[in-house]
Amino acid sequence: MSLLRAFIAVEVPAAIRQAVCNTAASLRQEIGALVRWVPMENMHLTLKFLGDVSPANVDMLSQMIRAEADLYPCFDLQFGGLGSFPSLKRPRVIYIGIQAPAVLEALHRGIESSSRRLGYESEERGFSPHLTVGRTRQNITATEQQTIRRLLEGITVDSLGIARVDSLHLYKSDLQPSGSVYTRLYSAPLKRP
Ligand code: 2AM
Repeated sequence: MSLLRAFIAVEVPAAIRQAVCNTAASLRQEIGALVRWVPMENMHLTLKFLGDVSPANVDMLSQMIRAEADLYPCFDLQFGGLGSFPSLKRPRVIYIGIQAPAVLEALHRGIESSSRRLGYESEERGFSPHLTVGRTRQNITATEQQTIRRLLEGITVDSLGIARVDSLHLYKSDLQPSGSVYTRLYSAPLKRP
């Protein structure tokens, strides 16, 4: 059986994703060719990138997601602000920021440690909730990096909205010639009050 590329994420409502795309439209005009833009339907908040997963382990992962979701109540996310990882000077990922209550951090930690117990590698980087809008192309020059930096520094993105999170999802990712296609494999509701 061939391996799946899988990740655990939170869905973002279409209205917010649309607002993000509208914001990105002005960036696209300026630096369109330097960046691979994430299509609106692919935008989500990643909680855990699992990488290669055996199809035989999907049930076990689903049970883990359900057990974690049972522990945490629904919460709100606020979207706004523009930035890049690893830094503005070396932009690789261009993102919209996400402000979240402490429960998101706790949920993320829970998922990290449960994933580790199931044999999936831990993420070494700290958790910075974000919505990726684009990834810079591999071969961009230092001057192009500077252009992107100046552009990002010159734009202020106020709040793009608030979204309630009420469930977690396990997705698989298929790399097609046209780009990544994400398919939901399992969903679990967060704890209800
Ligand atoms: P990001 O967009 O939030 O940064 C599905 O591929 C998701 O998993 C992506 O949206 C990306 O999250 C995350 N991802 C992909 N490849 C990754 C990797 N090698 N390490 C960590 N996260 C990754």
